[in-house]
Amino acid sequence: MTLSLDRIQTSATPQGDNAVLRLWGGSSLKGHVKISGAKNAALVVMAGVLLCPQDCRLRNVPALVDVERMAQILTALGVKLDRQGNILDLNAEHIGHSQAPYELVSQLRASFFAIGPLLARLGSARVPLPGGCAIGARPVELHVRGLQAMGADVRIEGGVVHAEVPGRNSRLKGAKIHLDYPSVGATETLMMAATLADGETYIENAAQEPEVVDLANFCRSMGARIQGAGTKTIVISGVPSLHGTDYSIIPDRIEAGTFMVAGAITHSELTLSPVVPDHLSAAIAKLREIGSQTIVEAPDCLRIVPGQNRAADIETLPYPGFPTDMQAQFMALLTVSEGSSTISETVFENRLRHVAELQRMGADIRVKGNIAIVRGVPKLSGAPVLATDLRASAALVLAGLAADGMTTIKDLKHLDRGYENLTAKMQQLGAKMERVTQDVEVSENATPEESTLK
Ligand code: EPU
Repeated sequence: MTLSLDRIQTSATPQGDNAVLRLWGGSSLKGHVKISGAKNAALVVMAGVLLCPQDCRLRNVPALVDVERMAQILTALGVKLDRQGNILDLNAEHIGHSQAPYELVSQLRASFFAIGPLLARLGSARVPLPGGCAIGARPVELHVRGLQAMGADVRIEGGVVHAEVPGRNSRLKGAKIHLDYPSVGATETLMMAATLADGETYIENAAQEPEVVDLANFCRSMGARIQGAGTKTIVISGVPSLHGTDYSIIPDRIEAGTFMVAGAITHSELTLSPVVPDHLSAAIAKLREIGSQTIVEAPDCLRIVPGQNRAADIETLPYPGFPTDMQAQFMALLTVSEGSSTISETVFENRLRHVAELQRMGADIRVKGNIAIVRGVPKLSGAPVLATDLRASAALVLAGLAADGMTTIKDLKHLDRGYENLTAKMQQLGAKMERVTQDVEVSENATPEESTLK
């Protein structure tokens, strides 16, 4: 059975472009949040299934629009998929040389990462260039150069990357690859490609993100020989083939971090599980500096104990540095923290678009290049705002929880890409928020009592 968008999008009613989220700030939250499987691990592990001709079962796969898109791309390549709740069964025995469809790849950049396993398994692959996205140009030359170092002929024609392994046995060759930048995607593409290559591959200056480690563990569970994932040098010894597996995706550290900020910004005590506290070290340390404590209650459970929020400086960096995927959410918190904070976005060139929306809510922020200077104000005020990308959407939800009055967030398609059941999870904690269709008459001064939340 293949997946359909409305089956997977359990959290999003009403759905898509026609929905807005309205929320009323000022309530404190309380309770426990169940953290979903990690989007960015699930997406790449799904692509990794292309490496193996046998049945693979993935557990803890979040129900997200991006996961649905990846499922559609895999289906187009010939993979059989079946989903029951958060369990995804896949079989890539009969994948063809068919090209991943441009309309889908352009909507989901992560699908480009399929080029690595396709090339390794079939000796050739055609994947459209994904193009830019809301947060930057996002080129893929590090992926391409690495595959070339492993012996692939790569040319770009008509916006499509054609990659081929010359020679009779069509196998990539192990190589020493030094990445100019520790790109998460390039590390993942090359690690997958190397699992079936002849000989040893060294990826130097590799990305160390937990999602890279999860992919390595998944590949190892299929029989791949990989060492050093999570460090700067990953060594992969190619094997002739990989076998089926049953694998559980790690918890989503960015979703967890978003709820940690929800606790801090609403001065609420919350618990979160399952989490891997080590994956959250940078966010935990920054939250402590700002004024909230994070207590490890159990090996997979965190408690947020809020305090008085003060300014702090943030620079986004590759892991284990402060994650770019948490920058917008922490900016929301710093808009209402006492003092002046400097936030430098160094990973993506266009990831400050939420600033204009936070300003609409009364935030005091100045931007110079990729640096935002945030001066804390005592209170934000609710306003109609536009979600510009995934993490920006989360930041606006957080700001809305701390604002006076009603905030209406438009363009929920970004939020649905990466947060499973966010509205329901927030409502369960006591947040006053609801999704309504855009054509519902929304009075500028509507109160929760006038809404469906009564
Ligand atoms: N870059 C290049 N050339 C390349 C590859 C990357 O210049 O060949 C640049 C990018 O343009 C960017 C920087 O390097 O400026 C970092 O890109 P990276 O390749 O590390 O990121 P990615 O693999 O495209 C993943 C996540 C992102 C997350 C980043 C950084 C997935 C599907 N996406 O992207 O997640 O921000 O790593 O941690 O894994 C999100 O979830 O909201 C999200 C954007």
